[in-house]
Amino acid sequence: MTPDPISRRLGVLISGRGSNLQSLIDAVADRRLNATIAVVISNREDAAGLERARHAGIEALCVSHRGWPSRSDYDRVLVKELQQRSVDLVCLAGFMRVFSPVMIEAFPNRILNIHPSLLPSFPGIDAQRQAFEHGVKCAGVTVHLVTNDLDAGPIVLQRVVPVLDTDTVDTLSARLLAEEHQAYVEAVRILLDEPWAVEGRRFVRLARAGEASGAPPPVGS
Ligand code: GRF
Repeated sequence: MTPDPISRRLGVLISGRGSNLQSLIDAVADRRLNATIAVVISNREDAAGLERARHAGIEALCVSHRGWPSRSDYDRVLVKELQQRSVDLVCLAGFMRVFSPVMIEAFPNRILNIHPSLLPSFPGIDAQRQAFEHGVKCAGVTVHLVTNDLDAGPIVLQRVVPVLDTDTVDTLSARLLAEEHQAYVEAVRILLDEPWAVEGRRFVRLARAGEASGAPPPVGS
């Protein structure tokens, strides 16, 4: 089933550096992305990404995860802050918290995450190191919709990054991060600008009206 069109108001959730946030800010500023970043929320006051947002004139706030009786109580506050700003698409950009169903149900198929591995390989933390130490020859990045299962939602897109014999965890991580910055912008653009559907656990890009469906042209045409 094709979901209703998404409004172009993004909420970006971060916990730290915010380089993926910066790539989204830059893409909006350059009009590569037709969207508005309505708010940036960090669970940590010292997240460098908050300053990046403020520098770009974007509302940035800290909603600490500490002191709430449960994960659901924290998520209810996040949902309220996002809904108050009419956010329709939530982009996780290094947000180091696992959601309760409260958040997932408030934004069904409306939460995106970027992960520095080719999921389903190497979910969880330190994915770049996991991949490097495993000895894979192809690492990569994944942008996926967020469900109740950690790092396991429908995959919107993946980009492959070859692992070189001369790599260290740091050099590989740097190339992965550069690829993340491209991939996240592209994934957000797909969600906002293209028809798509979730079929089972597959994210499927649909042909636009009047476009070829992917079937080969008739012989002789
Ligand atoms: C990125 O590697 C992202 O894939 C992961 O957390 C990191 C965040 O980096 N989820 P930054 O804060 O966007 O620089």
